[in-house]
Amino acid sequence: MILDQFELHQSRIFLGNTCYAEALALCDLDRYTKLFFISQEQVWGFHGRVLSDAFAALGYPVTEDQIYFMPDGERFKSLETFGAVQQWLVAQGADRRSLLVVLGGGVVGDLAGFVAATYMRGMPWLYVPTTLLAQQDASIGGKTAVNLPQGKNLVGCFWEPSAVIVDSAVLRTLPRRQLNAGYMEFLKHGMLHGPELYQAALDVPVDSDDWAAQMPVLARGVRVKAEVVRQDPHERNQRRLLNLGHTLAHALESFTEYRQFLHGEAVGIGLLFAAMLAQRLGGQDSWPGLEKAVVSRLPAFDVAAWDQNVLLDLTQRDKKGIGGKIAWIIPRAPGDVVIVDGVARPLLEETLSELVGRLANVVPVVG
Ligand code: GLY
Repeated sequence: MILDQFELHQSRIFLGNTCYAEALALCDLDRYTKLFFISQEQVWGFHGRVLSDAFAALGYPVTEDQIYFMPDGERFKSLETFGAVQQWLVAQGADRRSLLVVLGGGVVGDLAGFVAATYMRGMPWLYVPTTLLAQQDASIGGKTAVNLPQGKNLVGCFWEPSAVIVDSAVLRTLPRRQLNAGYMEFLKHGMLHGPELYQAALDVPVDSDDWAAQMPVLARGVRVKAEVVRQDPHERNQRRLLNLGHTLAHALESFTEYRQFLHGEAVGIGLLFAAMLAQRLGGQDSWPGLEKAVVSRLPAFDVAAWDQNVLLDLTQRDKKGIGGKIAWIIPRAPGDVVIVDGVARPLLEETLSELVGRLANVVPVVG
């Protein structure tokens, strides 16, 4: 059942519980000359049948030659995979009015979106995000990208999908760790929006299994992102707020060579850091419950192994910095989040040292 739907620029966003057929029926599939699919084998194994049955029920049966399986893993979000998918589309006779249907998490979505953005100078795509992280973040706003050996997401563009279907059914097969990591982007949306959604995010049980029941509140998180993107699609200003928690997160991912933390876990730690920084800047703690919500969803790790100086140096490389100044997103209170261009290093050092102390007390050590 579709629980919510709205338009964002040229995209239609559907949110619901087991709602593929209902949503696809509203997507004017007749407009497209042909349908092509990109996914990963395991993800297709879990969810491809239900999706292709929904297409078939509408008169669009799906055959194997319409599906491209890309390998799993961030390292395959590469120019090589990009080229391979483009050539496959040519071989299959895709044209610029064919639809690329993307079933997968953020890696598949980023890469396939970039393929769609550039194939014959742009073809439409429909995204069914299969992780909580991608539902809350990558599926909305059309950021597409591939990695270079020199860094993540260095090549890409904005190309919003024609339709997005955010369905709780896919969450049932996700490992708990992935769910916990994806939750952090939802929590971020609660922090950006205001006290009520922040509290609703805190109220999501750590061990929730009933994602259909959580879908109405998760849908509100998706809408928060959509409203920011609606105002500022190309990240000239307000969209930078979505970077809340990400400056330290990216540094942490880089420091641990992308091996220790899932992106969402690093974001959770970054949210805590940002809240503590806000407290030092504004003098009051506006974030009751944040530490518990984050820490209860983190795996064990050894915070004593962090080199705090190196970590802070890495924050200076954030590619969203402009003119050498790093924009820190400071959450003063729920719904009151500001962009501060440049924060004094001693303040960052004190805050990081406090964060390390707090984490050392509450996070079990790995090993
Ligand atoms: N992931 C943040 C954004 O889409 O702007």
